[in-house]
Amino acid sequence: QTFWAVVPAAGVGKRMNANRPKQYLELGGQTVLEQTLARLLQAEVFRGIAVAVSEEDGYWPDLPIARHPQIIRAPGGKERADSVLSALHALAGQAATDDWVLVHDAARPCLTITDIHHLIATLRDDPIGGILAVASHDTLKNVQGESIIGTLDRSYIWRALTPQMFRYGLLKSALQTQQGNPAITDEASALELQGWQPKIVAGRPDNIKITRPEDLALAEFYRAQQTLETTA
Ligand code: CTP
Ligand code: MG
Repeated sequence: QTFWAVVPAAGVGKRMNANRPKQYLELGGQTVLEQTLARLLQAEVFRGIAVAVSEEDGYWPDLPIARHPQIIRAPGGKERADSVLSALHALAGQAATDDWVLVHDAARPCLTITDIHHLIATLRDDPIGGILAVASHDTLKNVQGESIIGTLDRSYIWRALTPQMFRYGLLKSALQTQQGNPAITDEASALELQGWQPKIVAGRPDNIKITRPEDLALAEFYRAQQTLETTA
């Protein structure tokens, strides 16, 4: 089987409120994006990694990894889903319909190689695919205005992470069909709206998405913990 990775890295990082897009902030001596791509490369499973980068992005050309033979640049899109679709188009001609694509956020530099391999091992014989996720520990409230109108049954609630792993042809056609639909905030939701039921694979809760300023220090902490684990 053939595996490809797609990395949406064309966001502006509004909630991060920094002087540059968050994927170019420093983490452990490199940019967040380089750390994320390094983890994907270290997994040694991908034939190629398509990275969606904004066309105005002046940081990308300065990264040595931009010239890595396994890295393919694609133009970013308006929304995350548009960036992912653009990267899938960049793989057309190389990727076959039944090949696997793992879509992983540039802003998740704490993804472990074990989680990549665990996702692949669990889903490789699945017809459709699925996603890494973690069970919700907080009690979740249904709210209208300022009032609680109910409590969700937590045993049914999972938080979606990335990578999200799907068959190339299926994912591309689902994203194409759902193009412009604001409800598509991850790959799984595009497939769900096409009537598919993607699988859930339990992932590590330290696979956080850097979203707000405090998340950068948290990512640094988790990565240091991971180093201790692997050298223990
Ligand atoms: N992304 C993308 N293209 C977009 C928007 C987002 O490739 N048009 C990417 C981001 O670079 C990030 C991932 O999708 O790696 C997850 O999105 P998010 O965390 O929302 O990042 P931003 O959109 O950059 O942040 P914000 O929403 O705070 O502006
Ligand atoms: Mg965003």
